[in-house]
Amino acid sequence: MDIVEEIKEIARRAKEQVEKINSASDLLSWEKSVLGRKSRLSQLMRNIKDLPLEQRREAGHIANQVKQELQEIAAKLKSSLQQAEKQKQVDVTWPGEKPQRGHLHPVSLVQRELEDIFASLGFIIEDGPELESEYYNFDALNIPAYHPARDMQDTFFTVGGDVLRTHTSPIQVRAMQKYGAPLRLIAPGRVFRYEASDASHDFVFHQVEGLMIDKDISIANLIAIAKEFLSRIFTQDVEVRVRPGFFPFVEPGFEMDLTCILCQGKGCSACKRTGWMEFMGAGLVHPRVLEAGGIDPQEFSGFAFGFGLDRLIMLKYRIDDIRLFHSGDVRFLQQF
Ligand code: DAH
Repeated sequence: MDIVEEIKEIARRAKEQVEKINSASDLLSWEKSVLGRKSRLSQLMRNIKDLPLEQRREAGHIANQVKQELQEIAAKLKSSLQQAEKQKQVDVTWPGEKPQRGHLHPVSLVQRELEDIFASLGFIIEDGPELESEYYNFDALNIPAYHPARDMQDTFFTVGGDVLRTHTSPIQVRAMQKYGAPLRLIAPGRVFRYEASDASHDFVFHQVEGLMIDKDISIANLIAIAKEFLSRIFTQDVEVRVRPGFFPFVEPGFEMDLTCILCQGKGCSACKRTGWMEFMGAGLVHPRVLEAGGIDPQEFSGFAFGFGLDRLIMLKYRIDDIRLFHSGDVRFLQQF
C-alpha cells in the first residue's frame, strides 16, 4: 500500500475506535496506540525522510494533518470525560439554595381571615364591579341626586357617566337581585374616592360590606355578628356600642364603635381616653333599598354594615400610615 493511503487508513480506523471510548483509561490506551512513539503512524513518519522528494512532501503533509487531527480529537474527548466525571462527584445531599418566595399582601391575608370567619357563620362571599353605574352606587341605595357624596369632589366619574365605586354598598342591591331573600353575605373590595391622601386617607382603599336579610332581623342580630367577628379577628373579647348615625340606605342608621383594642377599653391616647374606637357604619336596610333589590320589606328585614378593611388591618398590626398598603415597599410587606 502506498504510504499516503496507509496514513489515511490509520486515521479512518482511529476515528472509528475513538467513537466507542467512554473512559479516561480507554482514551489513554487509544492515544498510545495511535499517536504513541511505537504507533504505526509514528513509525511511518520516521520513514518519510527516506522517500523521494515529491512523495516526501505529500506524505509529510498528510501525516502532520492526521496527527494534529487525532490529537485534537483526544483533547476534546478528554475534557468532556472530565466534565462528566465532575458531575458524578456532585453531592446530592448538599442543601440547596432557598428560592425567594413571595407571600400574601396584608390586605389579602386579613381579607381571607375575614372570609373564613364569615363563611363559618353562614355568609357567602360576594364580588361586584369596581367600575359601577351611578344607579347601583347611588340611586338604588336611596342616595338622592343632590347628596354631597355625588359631588365631583368625592367621586371619580368616567366620561361615559359611570363611577369608580365609592363604597362596596352597591353589591347589596346586586346580590339581592341575584339571590333574593333570605341572604347573608360579605363583600370585600377596593373602593375609590377623589380626595387628597394623608396617613389615614387614600384615594384607593378597601371596604367590607356585610348584609343579612331574613324574617325578623333586628339590631340585636347585627350586634351579635359584629361582636363575634371582631373578637375573632382581633383574637380578644371586644364589646361594641351603637350611636345614631345617618346613611341614606339604612333606617335607623348607626355608627358602631368597638372597645379600644390597644387598651382594652381602659382609655389611652389612641382612643382619646374614651376606651372606644369608631369602627363602622351600619343599620337596618332601608325599605327602599330592599325594594330596589326586589325584596318585599313587609316580609323581610335586614341589617347592613360597611367598614374600612385597611383601618382594621392598621389596628390589628399597629400600622400608622394607610399609604403603606399600596406603596410597593418590600420592607413593609416582608413583615407579614
Ligand atoms: N357605605 C358606607 C361608606 O362608604 C358605609 C356603610 C354605612 C355601609 C352604613 C353600610 C351601612 O352597609 O349600613 O361610608
